[in-house]
Amino acid sequence: MSQNEAKRLAAEKAIDYIEDGMIVGVGTGSTVAYFIDALATIRHRIKATVSSSDQSTARLKQHGIEVMDLNHAGTLSLYVDGADECDPRKCLIKGGGAALTREKIIAEASRQFICIVDPAKQVPVLGRFPLPVEVIPMARSLVAREILAMTGGQPVWRDGVTTDNGNVILDIHNLSITDPVAMERELNQISGVVCVGLFARRPADVVIIGGDPPTVL
Ligand code: 5RP
Repeated sequence: MSQNEAKRLAAEKAIDYIEDGMIVGVGTGSTVAYFIDALATIRHRIKATVSSSDQSTARLKQHGIEVMDLNHAGTLSLYVDGADECDPRKCLIKGGGAALTREKIIAEASRQFICIVDPAKQVPVLGRFPLPVEVIPMARSLVAREILAMTGGQPVWRDGVTTDNGNVILDIHNLSITDPVAMERELNQISGVVCVGLFARRPADVVIIGGDPPTVL
């Protein structure tokens, strides 16, 4: 089975978790694009969505699905998003699509976080995928030096990328993240860091791995 087929099957399985009248949090990425397409087939059943990126907002609106401001939505029942890596404790690396800050806000605002992935995203220890960190532009070099000193990993500026919030991304290479909660906390302390792409303090509640049939963890 192709990776795209696995993504589509994971995304379609997440539709089982939708209940009538819900406001659904929607993540970002190619797996989520399949989820948005599936959501369109039941759009009359949901009240609205809250989107984590301009990219997802555009796709939701193309399908005629209402997108709400999180400030008006309150606590969400459900958030569905992909990931770049997922460990056995359902801690995640996210931000490959540079949408990590809004994704983390919506994850935190949601009672249930369902992560939809293809099997290649499963790892025993996080860190093979470079860890994205969103940074205020003027602090880029400062944050890079502090990350190097703090973690020993190599921060690389994702040149040419500006986030939906007007910031830049540093991707930290060569990490082996055995304590994701501690690393998320420590990196969050650096002045100039807006968001760390580790979702460990608030991990996923359910992980759906695409396959025929999908595996639900
Ligand atoms: C975007 C993300 C995505 O969820 C992550 O990059 C996975 O993307 P894809 O579904 O395309 O493999 O965190 O910021």
